[in-house]
Amino acid sequence: MILYFSATGNCRYVAERIAQANDDEILSMTEAAEIGRYSFEADTVGIITPTYFWGLPSVVKEFLSKVEIKAGYIWFIATYGTTPGGSGYFTDKCIGGKTDAFFSVKMADTWTVWFDLSTPEAVGKFTKNTETEINDAITRIRNRERGNFMKNKVPVFSAKIAYSTYDSARATKNLSADENCIGCGLCAAKCPAGAIEMHDKRPVWVKDKCAMCFGCLHRCPKFSIQYGSGKGTRKHGQYLNPNVKI
Ligand SMILES: Cc1cc2nc3c(=O)[nH]c(=O)nc-3n(C[C@H](O)[C@H](O)[C@H](O)COP(=O)(O)O)c2cc1C
Ligand code: SF4
Ligand code: SF4
Repeated sequence: MILYFSATGNCRYVAERIAQANDDEILSMTEAAEIGRYSFEADTVGIITPTYFWGLPSVVKEFLSKVEIKAGYIWFIATYGTTPGGSGYFTDKCIGGKTDAFFSVKMADTWTVWFDLSTPEAVGKFTKNTETEINDAITRIRNRERGNFMKNKVPVFSAKIAYSTYDSARATKNLSADENCIGCGLCAAKCPAGAIEMHDKRPVWVKDKCAMCFGCLHRCPKFSIQYGSGKGTRKHGQYLNPNVKI
């Protein structure tokens, strides 16, 4: 069983690749939470999450804090663009120190407030080793290797400091939709935090905080949603992993 969270497709892609190679099944954490499934018993259980602010997306942290896993081998993968920070540490803490193996896979960095994903070349700068890292994880998982194989992680004390800034960054007042919005409702329908409602064909953020997953920003057909002043996000383009449907 592979449990994953994915806003823009990177983690979904890694989950699909590993499931296909190792004959496993995948389930999104948002779907599991929706149906109230928090108990998993399997030969092996995998957890795949994006890194947010050197830690875990709020929805992942909430899910993992409730989950009960019984498995002979539990593995974890963080996808990331710059550093997976302390995501392995935070995950292991949530599941009671039961993680047997930790991996990381560098992919396009969807925090486009800072990072440029506006061209295939810009995306390519992040993805040079993606396939190698996925293949390495597949082999090690198949062989049930134990240990921490994550690259570019940071000391836990620095990760805790960086992660403490996530809470203010994920205030929904930082998000807005401009006049190009056509009222399609896709942003609201796909929000993993239930933070958007459509009122008079306009998205309205009805919660003070969300996961800040950027799924709405990257998925909007009119690129109408921006973060803050929009200076960074408008310039850096939209990105959805091209290999999966999300
Ligand atoms: C709010 C937010 C914060 C992020 N923080 C980090 C980070 O601390 N370190 C990093 O390397 N990547 C960071 N990223 C990039 C994502 O972890 C990365 O692009 C991931 O592969 C996205 O996965 P997904 O497509 O499955 O949603 C961040 C992305 C977002 C939206
Ligand atoms: S996805 Fe974009 S166009 Fe569609 S309702 Fe949301 S903001 Fe408007
Ligand atoms: S409002 Fe947008 S950024 Fe926030 S959780 Fe929902 S889809 Fe993600």
